[in-house]
Amino acid sequence: MKAKALLLASLLVAASLSAQPKLNENNIPEVVRAMSAREKALLVVGFNSACEGYTPGLPGTGGLTHPFPQYGIPSIVLMDGPVGVRLEPDWHDGEGNAHFTTCFPTGLLVAASWDRDIASQIGRGIGEETLDMGADIILGPGMNLLRNPLNGRNFEYFSEDPVLSGSIAAAYINGVQETGAGTSAKHFAANSQETNRLDGDSRMDTRTLRELYTRGFEICLRESAPWTVMASYNLLNGIYTQESHDLLTKILRKDFGYKGLVVTDWTGKRNTPLQLHAGIDLFMGGAYNQTEHILASLEDGSLQMKDLDRAATKVLELVVKSVSFRRPSFEPPLRPDLEAHAPLARMTAAEGMVLLKNNGVLPLSPSRTALFGVYSYDLIPGGNGAAFVSCPYVVQLNDALKEEGFCLDPGLESLYKRYASFAEADLALNHRINVHVGNPQKGELEITRGLIEKAEKEADVAVITLGRTSGEARDRILGRDFLLQEPEVELLENVCEVFHAAGKKVVVVLNICGVVETASWNYLPDAILCAWLPGEEGGHAIADVLTGRVNPSGRLPMTFPLDYFDIAGAEDFPYNFVSDKANESVVHPERRGLDPKNLNYTDYTEGIYVGYRHFLSRGLDVAYPFGHGLSYTSFDYSQPKVLQKGDRIVATVTVTNAGPVAGKEAVGIYVHAPLGSFADKPERELKAFGKTRLLRPGESQVMELSFPVRDLASFNSALSRWETAKGVYTVYFGADCSRPAASLPLKLGKGRNYPVSRACEPINR
Ligand code: BGC
Repeated sequence: MKAKALLLASLLVAASLSAQPKLNENNIPEVVRAMSAREKALLVVGFNSACEGYTPGLPGTGGLTHPFPQYGIPSIVLMDGPVGVRLEPDWHDGEGNAHFTTCFPTGLLVAASWDRDIASQIGRGIGEETLDMGADIILGPGMNLLRNPLNGRNFEYFSEDPVLSGSIAAAYINGVQETGAGTSAKHFAANSQETNRLDGDSRMDTRTLRELYTRGFEICLRESAPWTVMASYNLLNGIYTQESHDLLTKILRKDFGYKGLVVTDWTGKRNTPLQLHAGIDLFMGGAYNQTEHILASLEDGSLQMKDLDRAATKVLELVVKSVSFRRPSFEPPLRPDLEAHAPLARMTAAEGMVLLKNNGVLPLSPSRTALFGVYSYDLIPGGNGAAFVSCPYVVQLNDALKEEGFCLDPGLESLYKRYASFAEADLALNHRINVHVGNPQKGELEITRGLIEKAEKEADVAVITLGRTSGEARDRILGRDFLLQEPEVELLENVCEVFHAAGKKVVVVLNICGVVETASWNYLPDAILCAWLPGEEGGHAIADVLTGRVNPSGRLPMTFPLDYFDIAGAEDFPYNFVSDKANESVVHPERRGLDPKNLNYTDYTEGIYVGYRHFLSRGLDVAYPFGHGLSYTSFDYSQPKVLQKGDRIVATVTVTNAGPVAGKEAVGIYVHAPLGSFADKPERELKAFGKTRLLRPGESQVMELSFPVRDLASFNSALSRWETAKGVYTVYFGADCSRPAASLPLKLGKGRNYPVSRACEPINR
């Protein structure tokens, strides 16, 4: 009897299973109709790899979606991002084999290449590794605007300028998605500080939001179609971005025309039905009570089924694009092609390094070298947090220089190596190295004058590396992170004094996660190379640039100010705030909107005057301007032209390599606009950029850079539209915003108004 009942039950299940539609690209509405409210409420709430009852992802997996075999819906896997696939450090499989992925150069370096092709190549490498690790989506690119140099996650992001950020992000996205993996453009929007990141309120006017903080995303979305956009943790003008219908539906979907899926950021849980209504489609790393909350809200009428149906539809549209769906029998090797990607990491890293200063000492020929600074022996490849990559090795600068035939001072080498391993152990013991948050930093070793004098006797040149790291959930601090520390200053001063007295040169390498103060010491060394956080092949790439194998062509994606307090809004940032509660709200949410300023809320008092927009408009001197970067050759600009062709502005200029060695040149097009109906506008704004191919000495390339006429517009908040002014614009040619190589007038016979939703039309999806 019992057996009969069981048979009947299984026949009924089988019948109901076969009655369910099986998901394919063309029947998503049918599947959504067939799913129960509970199933849909489960579908839109994902889970972390730690969730019980499901096959966990690999250690380090960001999250997964719920599978529904009865509808042929697989679980899809989302992994961090953005500088490589993030596995849990030291992860060994059941057979004891260690697994690694490639640590590519970090975001700032990618943007500093001013080269979309470099961003795409890195994207392709990361996309391949995403698939090889069995994931469907990489949680990147990170593309928040660099509002303040102390944001702990700046290294993941691209620039203080939305055009550079948006276009580089798009190129990265296109690169990843060519491989069949998906991306997540994050964090939308105005997520410009880590302190109190879950509950901080970014307060700004609408023009600032439109012209800067959503602008990069807008540009990114017209040049690419990221599968997902990740909404940020913070509030924007008093409303959580994840609960903001205005931001997620009106701006993102209606105005920017975004068609993909919107996913939450991971930790802070908001009001689930409100989020669904606002435009969130997928809750990550979800929690079961969110599903319950959705169901209860449907029942009490505070949530409409159409919002849940929309979200479920977006999840299924994402699922059908995923590898898990398209290639269900694909067995990921869990071993990415590290050998193939190492040269890619090396090549791309060298392309984004910026030569800040060179008094003729670089390039170096192999010589006897005194190599100072702990980071010369213990390079920082990347930052911490979601962007941490557990890579197989890091090429150290000392080893790379030796490979090039440099003869290093063995005494210094062994001293620094011992110090580096001691400092590592000390950090692990006393500061709990935590790869998910913060910025554990090794202090610089104090080297006696006597030791420097001894090293000088045996060397032809000195190289000093200074390092800074940072990570998620903590901002950098003015005194500790931005300014050099006493031992660093002493090292610089003493090495420069001793080596210069002997007629020998000193080179400084900056292995940094973001801007540091340079103005008080940059007169000391003969050359300064900004190598950023260059990934696992960093040592090789730095050596490539130092020796001239690669001619540097990187350009700063942000300004290096003379002084922190020269930046606009310097006081409106928690620049000296120290907290142990790194990953939590430092202020209770109930106190939201109340003091303390810069923690609970941050006023973006500088408005649109961020970075070079501020420095140029106020006529302030800087240490190194946006777009600065030297080369071992020089370039001439000739035949600049600019004209309006239909609804585009086309600027052309011939760039000729006028120097002795091959090189590449980054070209920017900046525009100064007449005021029109606006009381103020920035002195100059970047509108387009590009990079030449490698030009041999004497060789020329005509660079044609174009952009829509509507990109000349400013945002009129009162009328909620973009406006171009009639009159004479000035168009500047050259990457360095403060020293254009050429300029031309451009006349617009009449001004135009552009509705918000037309301000962004797809040009290259
Ligand atoms: C970070 C995201 C990341 C996510 C998943 C969050 O805390 O802000 O950038 O993708 O965690 O790890």
